[in-house]
Amino acid sequence: MTDLFDGFEIAGPARQPLAPGAVLLRGFAQPHETELLAAIEAITAQAPFRRMITPGGHQMSVAMTNCGSVGWVTDRSGYRYDACDPDTGRPWPAMPPLLRQLAEQAANEAGFAAFAPDACLINCYEPGAKMSLHQDRDERDIGAPIVSVSLGLPATFLFGGLKRSDKTQRYQLAHGDVVVWGGPARLAFHGVGPLAGGEHARLGRRRINLTFRRAQ
Ligand code: SIN
Ligand code: FE2
Repeated sequence: MTDLFDGFEIAGPARQPLAPGAVLLRGFAQPHETELLAAIEAITAQAPFRRMITPGGHQMSVAMTNCGSVGWVTDRSGYRYDACDPDTGRPWPAMPPLLRQLAEQAANEAGFAAFAPDACLINCYEPGAKMSLHQDRDERDIGAPIVSVSLGLPATFLFGGLKRSDKTQRYQLAHGDVVVWGGPARLAFHGVGPLAGGEHARLGRRRINLTFRRAQ
């Protein structure tokens, strides 16, 4: 479609390409916000947010939990996926069908058919929390994309290239925005700048981000 007709593109949400294999779907999750927030409440009642320790011994500023058949964890021994919550010894809460369907639909919209996530890392940022530039590379299947759903306070998302030193672009991610990266962008470096203060109508002084992965 040429620029001339962009204004008439009314079917589906606004789509912003970030790189080959990476796209920002503005507002894609917005219609499901109430169900998403209820699902997150139920998950965190069983597996509360906690600030994990990096292999280098630092406590992360972002608080995390998971749902799915495995969850991403970090401690002094390294990063890995584990079927159990290390804080309780119990399996992570199952991934609610609504969450899986939303991730599958977003992946499909981005050109990745048949995405079947088995892990969802849920990050909670309070003002000042950030995530340094990194690659998501602990997953066994990097043929599958990453689907990232943002809720609550807006954040600055940094998206770079395949080398840490590659230039990064900055994007504001707002409540309901979804980013999908896979294919040639699957191992792109990305991160989140320090969260600014503010008050979100549904989430208060927080940003919650869900990243869906095919880990195993
Ligand atoms: C992540 O890279 O795991 C989180 C990205 C985000 O919070 O937007
Ligand atoms: Fe990541």
